[in-house]
Amino acid sequence: MASPLLTIVLAAGKGTRMRSDTPKVLHAIAGRSMLGHVLDRVRTLSPERQAVVVGPGMEAVAAEARAAGAEVETYVQPDQRGTADAVLAAAPALKTHQGDVLVLFADTPLLRVETLSRLRDLLEGGAGVAVLGFEAADPTGYGRLLTDATGAVVAIREHADASTDERRVRLCNAGVMAFRVPDLAALLGRIGSGNAKGELYLTDAVALARGDGHVVRTVVCSEDEVLGINSRDQLAVAESIWQRRRRLEVMHDGATLVAPDTVWLSHDTAIGRDVTIEPNVFIGPGVVIEDRVTIRANSHIVGVHGKDKAGLRIREGAIVGPFARLRPGADIGRDVHIGNFVEVKNVVMETGAKANHLAYIGDGRVGAEANIGAGTIFCNYDGFQKHQTDVGAGAFIGSNSALVAPVKIGDGAYVGSGSVITKNVPADALAVARAPQETREGWAAKYRARRKRKP
Ligand code: UD1
Ligand code: MG
Repeated sequence: MASPLLTIVLAAGKGTRMRSDTPKVLHAIAGRSMLGHVLDRVRTLSPERQAVVVGPGMEAVAAEARAAGAEVETYVQPDQRGTADAVLAAAPALKTHQGDVLVLFADTPLLRVETLSRLRDLLEGGAGVAVLGFEAADPTGYGRLLTDATGAVVAIREHADASTDERRVRLCNAGVMAFRVPDLAALLGRIGSGNAKGELYLTDAVALARGDGHVVRTVVCSEDEVLGINSRDQLAVAESIWQRRRRLEVMHDGATLVAPDTVWLSHDTAIGRDVTIEPNVFIGPGVVIEDRVTIRANSHIVGVHGKDKAGLRIREGAIVGPFARLRPGADIGRDVHIGNFVEVKNVVMETGAKANHLAYIGDGRVGAEANIGAGTIFCNYDGFQKHQTDVGAGAFIGSNSALVAPVKIGDGAYVGSGSVITKNVPADALAVARAPQETREGWAAKYRARRKRKP
């Protein structure tokens, strides 16, 4: 039976190197904030309590923390006096918690759950402190894990405070630490600021814990996993690592990605079996793709965007694209075909409906087996409000028609090509709303003859 767990995520950094009005930890990877990724990972450990430490005035960060779960407690660290001080900002949680404590950084979003579990296992095995380390290709800037002759970690030395010899050490502190000590707040309270930066270093807890007779042990993970994000270029690197991982999982679960490196997924993309995704497809948040769906090349599919949280589902056997654009609220029914240059937003497309070329289908319903001709536009917006278009089952909308909402086309009705439909069309009727054709026999020949005579 594992000991109850308190997790503390440090998110007080301003992240000035992002050059952004948005706090660093709210920048997104795969459509979810870095903080959201870390809290998602933390949740899988079933912690008893979760704390997030934010900087003063960082209400948006606190709100994002609470959005991950109402039980998440937020604490403000008034001044950035170092990582130990940041953990102590959560003192009310620390002091009332009996059990293990896991400290993580919100700007390290690629951590794997297995790695966190391994740290906990060390505590179960008797360690008082468990430190996550990695072999850095370039250790500059990181805290070094200093070991004794037996390989046990005796201290962490921050780069700025390290001697030339110590700087040669490549085993670095990733920033994640787990504790099973009787009174962590008291231990952290003993940390001083006598170092190069004048900060209260959490990493000093290692030497203090050892002095108290605790065993300190280490888990080593890959550098990829503990990439800390400080700038936009590092954000892009993290995004590509995340995407690579997720594509492998999706393929492992039975989807074919023809050119995996060109498919972009979101943190919550759900993909069924025997789905095929062709090259250059972007899938934003809130998308569910059921079994046997084909997404053809160059399609853009987003289920949640800003305040538009409707979500998007592509049901079994549907074919989407190439060059399709699906937006929030699109419900693409079984065996529906959405072809090239078709945009669908907030519309239920029922089983077997088709819109194969060049159309805007926004706000409404397209009944089963209905056919939307090339160039059809649902005129849903009057400059103030959106209105609904309802196309009945088996209806046929001729090419280049404008359906001016609110409007209903009955089951099985026909709309003649080029119509501008402003009134409801009953079931099984034909509606034609365009200027009648006028044909003048021989007109063109006479016209040409006249133009040739006059230079
Ligand atoms: C820290 C570690 C270092 C490790 C490195 C890994 C310490 C003293 N050093 O160094 O050993 O190799 O991470 O990336 O812990 N924070 C606060 N309040 C503060 C200071 C920091 O909330 O007063 C937060 C930051 O937002 C960040 C995290 O703590 O999420 C780490 O702080 P940062 O200043 O980036 O530490 P590093 O110098 O990178
Ligand atoms: Mg850092």
